[in-house]
Amino acid sequence: MSKKRVVVLTGAGVSAESGISTFRDSGGLWEKYDISEVATPEAWERNIDLVIDFYNQRRKQLHEVKPNPAHYALVKLEEKYDVHIITQNVDDLHERAGSSKVLHLHGELKKVRSSIDENLVYELEGWELKKDQKCEKGSQLRPHIVWFGEPVPLIPKAAEISSSADIYLIIGTSLNVYPAAGLVNYVKPGIPIYLIDPGEVHAPDVNLIKEKAGTGTPKLVEQLLKKAD
Ligand code: OAD
Repeated sequence: MSKKRVVVLTGAGVSAESGISTFRDSGGLWEKYDISEVATPEAWERNIDLVIDFYNQRRKQLHEVKPNPAHYALVKLEEKYDVHIITQNVDDLHERAGSSKVLHLHGELKKVRSSIDENLVYELEGWELKKDQKCEKGSQLRPHIVWFGEPVPLIPKAAEISSSADIYLIIGTSLNVYPAAGLVNYVKPGIPIYLIDPGEVHAPDVNLIKEKAGTGTPKLVEQLLKKAD
């Protein structure tokens, strides 16, 4: 018999216990930085140094952190389920833990791309993107990140994956940012949805597990693995 499909939508909260700041919690990144100054195409036009530095700092931090029990629990879930992760995170902690199917809706910190041809994407060596580092067509390389005001190219794929779920998990996202927050609307009626988050997240018709990802996820995974037997 083929495995049931579990689709998992993750946000910054799944990496919080690894030591990566979330965006909107108190002390979060958007309290320290103005979104419009670092995460928009206009910011890139206005102040390229600041934008490059902002993502260089994030990338540098990525080399100093490790996956946590939430990431590893999702890997274990693959023993008995066909697990598809849709992450809003630009870190690579799901992959480093060992998850096999990870879709990065908002881009990837470790990648950079041409600023004139979005198909020219490169792995950056080390943490530092330098001003004047160019693509093969001669344009400045930019972070491979979906900025505010830019389209989210992988949304149709993520919607399709969401609609194919037998079980849906939402972990560590405030569900504030669209279109990602709307993916849950593609889940078929009657499919169980679990939401793990210690904060106040509002989503209708979900089984709410008000816990941190690092404890809530391994517990839910154990339950799901038992159910699959
Ligand atoms: P947010 O910062 O908006 O939300 C983080 C969520 O994680 C909140 O609901 C917290 O309650 C929860 N949280 C905090 N600690 C947690 C823990 N230990 N375990 C589980 N949950 C925890 O982050 P996102 O929803 O991911 O986009 O933000 C969505 C997008 O907005 C990001 O991808 C980013 C940002 O601007 C871009 O930069 C394009």
